[in-house]
Amino acid sequence: MARRSFICGTGSYLPERILTNAELASMVETSDEWIRERTGIRQRHVAADGELTSDIATAAARRALDAAGIDASAIDLIVLGTTTPDQTFPATATAVQAKLGMTGGAAFDIQAVCSGFLFSLATADSMLRQGLFQRALVIGAETFTRIIDWSDRGTCVLFGDGGGAVVIEAREGDFAPDEGIITHHIRTDGTKADLLYVDGGVSSTGTIGHVRMEGNRVFKHAVANISSAIEAVLQETGLTADDIDWFVPHQANKRILDGVAKKLNIPESKVIITVDQHANTSAASIPLALDHAVRSGRAKPGDLILSEAMGGGFSWGASLFRL
Ligand code: ACO
Repeated sequence: MARRSFICGTGSYLPERILTNAELASMVETSDEWIRERTGIRQRHVAADGELTSDIATAAARRALDAAGIDASAIDLIVLGTTTPDQTFPATATAVQAKLGMTGGAAFDIQAVCSGFLFSLATADSMLRQGLFQRALVIGAETFTRIIDWSDRGTCVLFGDGGGAVVIEAREGDFAPDEGIITHHIRTDGTKADLLYVDGGVSSTGTIGHVRMEGNRVFKHAVANISSAIEAVLQETGLTADDIDWFVPHQANKRILDGVAKKLNIPESKVIITVDQHANTSAASIPLALDHAVRSGRAKPGDLILSEAMGGGFSWGASLFRL
């Protein structure tokens, strides 16, 4: 008998307000054409005044719970990937716990920037497999536009707000190696922090700060790091790109997605793309894209999903799971 985690529901939420490329072109020197050609982005959602990361996370979590057909009282673990917490402390996950009316279990945040959802999934999966918890909400949620410098055209066109969630539960039985959540490879390299960071923080400046990025240098590392994480996952499992039903990547830039898909021989028809509609929502982008794939009827129970991310840190990783 083995213990394995399984995904049993997905959900997502996007703030109502949409900010188009044309609107951005009236704020900084850019154009709809430049943004679409260099990134694939057409629009992004922006949280309303007073709408918190925990509100977005809770809305996504409720939809994932509905999809799983369970009540919040059945959850005993919440792991939330976010770079934009409600407050410095307590963890935003505990605000979600309270908003869902939960009084038991444990809830905490993970900070791995755009890789936050994959790091959260790997953490929750490990804790479930170990028998520490039975059923988890794994969430990625951001109000990323709050750390944007709206006068910096190199970053302000790239990001958006949103949230996505999955319910995962531990089951015991004799499983085939490729059932449920199969494996993860997560990595970081702190020596590259100066290429992508926020120029503020509690113990440094005492301010929130803004995103700073050397985009073209990040781009080059992104394709290489993501590809190596995916290759590690495929090598470990003995699976090939042909076995994958859907590739659900972090949505940073369509050119990065195309570069990785080409390098790994994944046909475009298998790639879930939401970057055009959502832009880069950091830790939220993978669960948003996954929920989009499920609700649009493309990804179905039993499908094999490969996911990857790369973000500040640098942090990066890949996960493989069967829906
Ligand atoms: N509109 C018009 N021109 C622009 C804009 C803009 N919004 N932004 C930059 N430019 C200009 C630059 O100033 C530069 O002009 P110059 O040649 O006169 O100096 C020119 O466009 C080219 O700039 P590059 O930075 O070389 O453009 P590039 O093709 O690399 O595209 C981009 C920039 C879209 C940022 C790309 O590098 C990218 O997507 N990088 C990766 C981002 C990423 O994946 N981040 C990781 C996740 S984020 C996270 O973890 C928080």
